Amino acid sequence: MTEYNFPDVFIFGAATSSYQIEGAWDKDGKGESIWDRFSHQEGNVLNGDTGDQACDHYNRFKEDIALMKELNLDSYRFSISWPRIFPEGHGKVNQAGLDFYKELVDELLKAGIEPAITLYHWDLPQAIQEEGGWENRKTTDYFVEYAELLFYELGDKVKSWITHNEPWVASFLGNYFGEHAPGKNDLSAAIQVAHNIMLSHGKVVKKYREMDLDGEIGITLDLHEINPVSQSKSDIEAAELEEEFSNRWFLDPIFKAKYPDKLMNKFKDNFNLEFIDEGDMEIINQEIDFLGINYYTRHVIEADKSNNIFDYKHVKMIGNPHTEMGWEVYPDGLYNLLINLKEEYTDKPIYITENGRASDDKVDEYGRVNDKDRIDYYASHLKAVERAIKSGVPVAGYYAWSLMDNFEWAWGYTRRFGLIYVDFETKKRILKDSAKWYRQLIK
Ligand code: BGC
Repeated sequence: MTEYNFPDVFIFGAATSSYQIEGAWDKDGKGESIWDRFSHQEGNVLNGDTGDQACDHYNRFKEDIALMKELNLDSYRFSISWPRIFPEGHGKVNQAGLDFYKELVDELLKAGIEPAITLYHWDLPQAIQEEGGWENRKTTDYFVEYAELLFYELGDKVKSWITHNEPWVASFLGNYFGEHAPGKNDLSAAIQVAHNIMLSHGKVVKKYREMDLDGEIGITLDLHEINPVSQSKSDIEAAELEEEFSNRWFLDPIFKAKYPDKLMNKFKDNFNLEFIDEGDMEIINQEIDFLGINYYTRHVIEADKSNNIFDYKHVKMIGNPHTEMGWEVYPDGLYNLLINLKEEYTDKPIYITENGRASDDKVDEYGRVNDKDRIDYYASHLKAVERAIKSGVPVAGYYAWSLMDNFEWAWGYTRRFGLIYVDFETKKRILKDSAKWYRQLIK
């Protein structure tokens, strides 16, 4: 095994999200989420897969925590299903849903594993969607109501809170590209959704401070290293625009209380942005305790004038391996990203809240899953993290995505990201070779 030199207090964990693993989509009073609605509509998810059962984690969480313990995890990052707590989005609380998460947290603590909770990993209550979803500014207040309840109920035991997971995906992939729930193709709506999600983040951080709890709060962004395909002026400018779209649109409001200029000007020319109220940027610009980043790959960009606003396209690089998602394996991108974050945005601790790859995993005749490509992926990205720490970036922890194979959104069950193999028929779990490798590394 490669040797690593991480700080003593460095946290090693694994991550999941509610809709991707829990199943029990309508059990014990849970309300419908936009992902329940979306996956139940034909044509949205590959093979018609849904999260109705997923990994059945709702019923098997004890078994799963025992596996986490076997892996020596310091921390487990999971998300809470908002409609399990508020079936109608706000107002009446579903006690059974709350009890599920209380028990989960207690079990984790008993096993010596620190819970890290993401409040929103995309499963908005459908009832709120009916009121306009994230396009409706009121949703930001419903989000505060939901967060406050959880802070009140779990804030003494849970020390690590993440407001949102990947606002870019929740807003643009769901409302502009239409690949995720709620499945819209409306850029103007997507910009408004992004703004309200960020606003809700700021409001919830404020609420957390008011409650004076002993813990930390931050947000998780999906960030990419962005490279122009050539050094031509047009490719460089195109890459700058993509940088604003996929990274800075969220980083700048959080750390600089503004949106990046180039893209803002384009949006302004095309849309009515009056929903951005005076004072919003200050609310978004709350001091956070840490930044979470999810890193999977880089984007290589080439100018393409045929598109009006986003006048560029993504180029697939040959040479480096690509994962089952078609994503280039590019660990240097993680190093560069971390250095840039420190130079340009923050000195706060950074957690890699997701990193991992999809592979075509198979159980062999001995019941073993040999996923060497995943081990290589983790090993090389952890080396990049180690290097960044050496260069002075305060990376405080790393969460593998994912603890177990799960519902990979629009790809259904066709893409496996887990350390743990899940047979989706029987729900049987098998530790892949990467899980054994990770266990050894943590030890
Ligand atoms: C998300 C996960 C997802 C993973 C792999 C991230 O965008 O947070 O929910 O499964 O990437 O696509």
